[in-house]
Amino acid sequence: MINILTITEEQAKKELEKIAKEMAKADEAYYQNDDPYLTDAEYDELKLLNEKLEQKFPHLIRADSPSKRIGAPVKSDFKKVIHKIPMLSLGDIFSEEELVDFVKGIQRFLNTDTDIEFTSEPKMDGLSFSARYENGRFISGATRGDGKTGEDITDNLKTIAALPHFIDAADFPEIIELRGEVYMAKADFFELNAKNEKENKKPFANPRNAAAGSLRQLDANITKERKLSLLVYTWGEVSNIFWKSQSEFLETIQRWGFPVNPYNRLCRNLKEIIESYESLLNTRADLPYDIDGIVYKVNSLELQNRLGFLTRTPRWAIAHKFPAEKAVTRINNIRIQVGRTGALTPVADLEPVNVGGVMVSHATLHNEDEIKRKDIRIGDYVTIQRAGDVIPQVLGVVLEKRSDDSKPFEFPKFCPECGAHAIREEDEAVRRCTGGLSCPAQAIERIKHFVSREAFNIEGLGGKIIEQFFAEGILQSPADIFTLEARNGGDDLFSAASGLHLENRDGWGRKSVENLFKAINERRIITLPRFIYALGIRQVGAATSLLIAKNYGSFSYFMQEMCRGDTEKLISIDGIGEAMAHDVVEFFKEEHNLMIIQKLLNEVKIEEFIDNTAADTAVSGKTIVFTGTLEHLTRAEAKAKAQSLGAKVAGSVSAHTDYVVMGADAGSKARKAQELGIKILSEEEFLQLIKS
Ligand code: IVH
Repeated sequence: MINILTITEEQAKKELEKIAKEMAKADEAYYQNDDPYLTDAEYDELKLLNEKLEQKFPHLIRADSPSKRIGAPVKSDFKKVIHKIPMLSLGDIFSEEELVDFVKGIQRFLNTDTDIEFTSEPKMDGLSFSARYENGRFISGATRGDGKTGEDITDNLKTIAALPHFIDAADFPEIIELRGEVYMAKADFFELNAKNEKENKKPFANPRNAAAGSLRQLDANITKERKLSLLVYTWGEVSNIFWKSQSEFLETIQRWGFPVNPYNRLCRNLKEIIESYESLLNTRADLPYDIDGIVYKVNSLELQNRLGFLTRTPRWAIAHKFPAEKAVTRINNIRIQVGRTGALTPVADLEPVNVGGVMVSHATLHNEDEIKRKDIRIGDYVTIQRAGDVIPQVLGVVLEKRSDDSKPFEFPKFCPECGAHAIREEDEAVRRCTGGLSCPAQAIERIKHFVSREAFNIEGLGGKIIEQFFAEGILQSPADIFTLEARNGGDDLFSAASGLHLENRDGWGRKSVENLFKAINERRIITLPRFIYALGIRQVGAATSLLIAKNYGSFSYFMQEMCRGDTEKLISIDGIGEAMAHDVVEFFKEEHNLMIIQKLLNEVKIEEFIDNTAADTAVSGKTIVFTGTLEHLTRAEAKAKAQSLGAKVAGSVSAHTDYVVMGADAGSKARKAQELGIKILSEEEFLQLIKS
């Protein structure tokens, strides 16, 4: 536990670094992959700790501090859209005390004792969007992205019935961007997941992820099939803002025909704000959609303008977060799941229980130590928490309800799937099966990963089918997918005896087999990041695969270096460390893996990676390392600028570095650059260079 009062500067520095890394990873999982692994509560806790540490040691604020960031940079599959007016984030509060401080703070800022009007609006737990209208017509839409640059989702937004395509009103501004939240109602979420389950597709963790996953589909036809809704609550660029307050804005857009939350309230004073909080908290479980708090906004635009903005958030608005929802239930069983990399993950099967309107029947127990630490046993009653995101957590055991004959849970030392030894390496929290690909669970999970959305994305090969095919020997490794059609056997009677003839299986038919082969054949040409990700190398997620692709350009070059064990370039990539590089090299040492890759290369063609985000600039394609303290730019700004101009930013100097940009107090990196004869630029020279 960290004690903010007694923590030393040295410890704080380490802690801030740890938090920055963890939150960057969590942000990526949440914003880019729609697959979070921290609960909202865990995330908020990290954020709060970061804030407190930065308050105490302002000189330790990192360039990559989570406090300086909104969301995560956008993935490259969508066209990018620059928001002329940035899409901002909101500060968070969690208690009535903080609420009072917030309101008092505003009064102090405005130097007044009189009550200030606020709107109170449910904080929709969805995905924010911006919709641009010109001359009454909807012309383009975007996601928030990192607040400055979002993804072009025009076609996807068009499929949402609630969004008007044309407004015919005399006072509708010539140009107006309306902003709000796309969400999926709870009922539609359950329906979608039931359908996914039937089709052996991975269910979404919660409505927010389902909404995000549905909206950010390159193929808008898929968005159209999903039931999405939206609400509008603010604006971006507007040619003529004639409303004088937030409440007048909400009334106006409602008159124009935009959907507005019926639970929005106008509060005349602090007392009414608190009442609105209590009342919404009580209604929360009955709402047809998820909300994670309330947003309070100063109603008057004049006052909003006077209050202005903090770095990333308005001073005139705040998000009051709801506590996570909890319940008590019984653990019927503790199951051990074996993942793609052999990790043994304990899962609690629960007596189904209603938590804030959602039925919960499983919870994650994380790992062996967690079970030991909380002494969780089969048959125990436990408090569980569902915090909107990820699968529910077990907070602790209700000891009074423990039965006398209960025994501590013994974590298996052997893989429950293949019987091989399961061991823990030093410093590792997880126990892993040592069976490798001879462990059916690992082999199966690896194929599932291979066909998953961000890898080969092969529709029609769901989890259940992969399990069946594996058991029957039809699919042993990923490469076998691409020989299915050849092995299936032709149409004519004479060949009917040989071949798999999948069309004759229960629940299959000619059409579904044709569709499957079509889906497979469409993936015979694959992008480099997808291919790298699909291999399922430990620690190498989608974002890392993209980094590798950007830096190596071709698979053959990457593989050649890895097989030689040359990781210099790999480690120089910002975001890839020694441990990850180690895992990559280990992967390529394994004979079995090389065999799978060889077989795959016979079947698929991997595209070379061309980074088309990089125009032809003075630094495009160049690798830059920043060191020391910069004067005009923060490190994050410098990095973003360089990257937006097509440069790669590395964390350490190597023979692959083109420029080292040196600020004040530069240390060993500048020395190393000198030794290697790499061009060193001052901050001014760098600014000059990117200007040209
Ligand atoms: S106003 C400058 N109003 O919460 C103010 N945001 O943490 C911008 N959100 O990005 C946002 N309901 O995705 C606003 N009624 C509401 C909202 C709301 C949900 C989300 C939105 C925003 C995030 C900020």
